[in-house]
Amino acid sequence: MPRIFSGIQPSGELHVGNYLGAVKNWVELQHSYDCIFCIVDYHAIIGAYEPDDLRRRTADMAVSLLAAGLDPDKCTVFVQSHVPEHTELAWILNTITPIGELERQTQFKDKAQRQESVVAGLLNYPVLQAADILLYRADGVPVGEDQVQHLELSREIARKWNARFARGEDFFPEPKPLLTATRRVMGLDGQAKMSKSMGNTVGLLEPFDAVWEKLRPAVTDPKRVRRTDPGTPEVCNIYHLHKAFNPPETVEHVATMCSTAGWGCIDCKKVLLEGMKRELGPIHERARELSAHPDRVRDALATGADRCRALARETMGYVRERMGLV
Ligand code: TYM
Repeated sequence: MPRIFSGIQPSGELHVGNYLGAVKNWVELQHSYDCIFCIVDYHAIIGAYEPDDLRRRTADMAVSLLAAGLDPDKCTVFVQSHVPEHTELAWILNTITPIGELERQTQFKDKAQRQESVVAGLLNYPVLQAADILLYRADGVPVGEDQVQHLELSREIARKWNARFARGEDFFPEPKPLLTATRRVMGLDGQAKMSKSMGNTVGLLEPFDAVWEKLRPAVTDPKRVRRTDPGTPEVCNIYHLHKAFNPPETVEHVATMCSTAGWGCIDCKKVLLEGMKRELGPIHERARELSAHPDRVRDALATGADRCRALARETMGYVRERMGLV
C-alpha cells in the first residue's frame, strides 16, 4: 500500500486553514493508504517559546487531530521528538543540501526578514521536513499550497542521496504533494493566508458564538458597499468558505442571492455559520470527550511512536550502512 506522510506544527488547536488545506484530506486518506501523521515539535522550537506552553500545545494538537477524525486504528499519529532518528537523518541530509536552495525558500525569506537575528534552525527547517518524509520513504504528502516549495526541495534531496549513495536504486521515493481544492484558505481579513502568526484564524474548536463574532465583520466582496449592490461571489472569501462547508445546492443558492442582491452579507454569513456548525459540531463533541480521557490520546501517541521508531530504525540501518557510518 503506498505510504502517506504529513506533519503539522503543535500550535494548540487546529484552525480552519489547516483543516481544509490538509487535515480533512488526511482523514479521507487514512481509509485507503498507509498513513503516518506527525506533530512536529522539533520544528516548533525554532525561535522563542515557553517549554510548558509547547507541552500544552502538543497535547492540544493531538486532541484536535483525533477529534477531527484521525482514527488511531486506521492511521499512525505520533510526536516527532519521540523518534529521535528524525534529527539524525536531518543532519545527514544537511550534508548534501546546498545553502543556496535553503536561502531561496519563500518561507525562510519571509520569516528571516522579520527577525533581527536568524538562527541556523530556521534556514535548515526544510531539511528536517525532508528527513520527516524520507525516514518513512513516503510516496505522497497531503499539504496545503504553502508547503509545495518545501516538497520540491525534499524531492531534490531524495534524488541527490539516491544518486550519491544508493547506487542507482531509488531507495528514497520522490514524495509528491497531494493538494485539495482548498489548498490556500484565506484569513477572515481577506488579505493573507489564514495563519496563526497573522492572527486571522478561526479555531476548529472555537465556540460558535466566538466564530460568529469573527465572521460578522469578515471581509466580503470589497465592491459591494450597500445592501442593494449586487455582489460577485468568486471574489468573496466567504463564498469560498461556503464551498468548503456547504453542499453544492446551498453554494449555488448563495451565489444567486449574492449576485442579485437578494441577500445582504450578514444573511449569507449566517448560512455559512450553519454549515460550519454541521461539520464542526461533531468535532467539538469528540474533542470534549477526548479531553476528558487524556489517557486515550497518550496511548494513541505511544503506539504511533512505537511503530515509527521501528520503521525509522530500519531506514537508518540502510542509510548508515550505505554511507560508511560504522
Ligand atoms: P503547518 O503546521 O504550518 O500547517 C499544517 C498543514 O496545514 C496547511 N495549511 C493551510 N492550508 C491551506 N490554507 C491555509 N491557510 C493553511 N495554513 C496551513 C499546511 O500547508 C500544512 O499542510 N512545515 C509544515 C509541517 C511539516 C511537514 C513535514 C508537512 C513538518 N514536516 C513533513 C509535511 C511533511 C508546517 O509548518 O505546517
